[in-house]
Amino acid sequence: MEKVNVLILHKLPFNSESLFDKQFNIFRYDDNFKNEEIQALIPLLTDEVSKELIDSLPDLKIISNVGVGYNNIDYEYALSKGIVVTNTPGVLTESTADLTFALILGVARRILEADRFLRDGKFKGWDLTLFLGLELSQATLGIIGMGRIGQAVARRAKGFGMKIIYHNRKRVSEDSEKELSAKYVPFDELISTSDIISLHCPLTKETHHLIDKNEFLKMKDGVIIINTARGPVINEKELVNFLKNGKVKGAGLDVFEREPEVEGDLLHMENVILLPHIGSATHYTRKRIVTLAVNNVIEFFKNERPLTPIK
Ligand code: GLV
Repeated sequence: MEKVNVLILHKLPFNSESLFDKQFNIFRYDDNFKNEEIQALIPLLTDEVSKELIDSLPDLKIISNVGVGYNNIDYEYALSKGIVVTNTPGVLTESTADLTFALILGVARRILEADRFLRDGKFKGWDLTLFLGLELSQATLGIIGMGRIGQAVARRAKGFGMKIIYHNRKRVSEDSEKELSAKYVPFDELISTSDIISLHCPLTKETHHLIDKNEFLKMKDGVIIINTARGPVINEKELVNFLKNGKVKGAGLDVFEREPEVEGDLLHMENVILLPHIGSATHYTRKRIVTLAVNNVIEFFKNERPLTPIK
């Protein structure tokens, strides 16, 4: 095999780059390399891989994204040029579902508000009406996007005794619906009947601002919004408006429309939890993500088949 030149946009942790044997040359963005010599590109999900970047690497054969979402890549353009695109599905399902549930519990039971209250010295004794929240066993969870992560969230919700409804482009199998105790409903019904709405769809042209003013208007009063998918699926300004007028009671957000920027007003709201995109951030998962991204490149050049192509 000829030497393969790999451009890694950010140094990968967990010693994962050592998986590349001597058939691979590794370059960083600020190294001296010739664009014409790069065959593989490994971006993080925060690196924009535009048409221009793709065109600037004329011998590029594979783009191996570090992350399951690949909205950062102009993948249609890459695929049209015969470039293989891979992502990291499967390995981050459980950790992301866990974090989603941390947000669901955190917002429903007002954990951060209550913690701040105590730290502020306001806890003067047990009180029957202190920090009343939403009882999960009496609540309906609406899951938008029933892929691997949506299903893992449903599995957890079932354990909490929640009523589970979902919407997805395609209905999942009857067996899965049974196992998850999840009922397929039209999008509008999900929007108007859920107590908690959790987003698990990819960001595409179709899902950009999927949750906008019209959708907020149709929601139940006091709804809770959870987003561990991608920020632009929600119109963040409208979310702020509906949090302000009380229609939305609380929100748990791990992703933002203009990451790492956050709508200023959110920072001052008691009833929202804001996290710095840590859905998959466990030692176990993050190591598996970078290992899969590296192995996609290795397998592609050694066996002509990457492990997890997007198409
Ligand atoms: C995380 O956001 C991912 O897409 O892997």
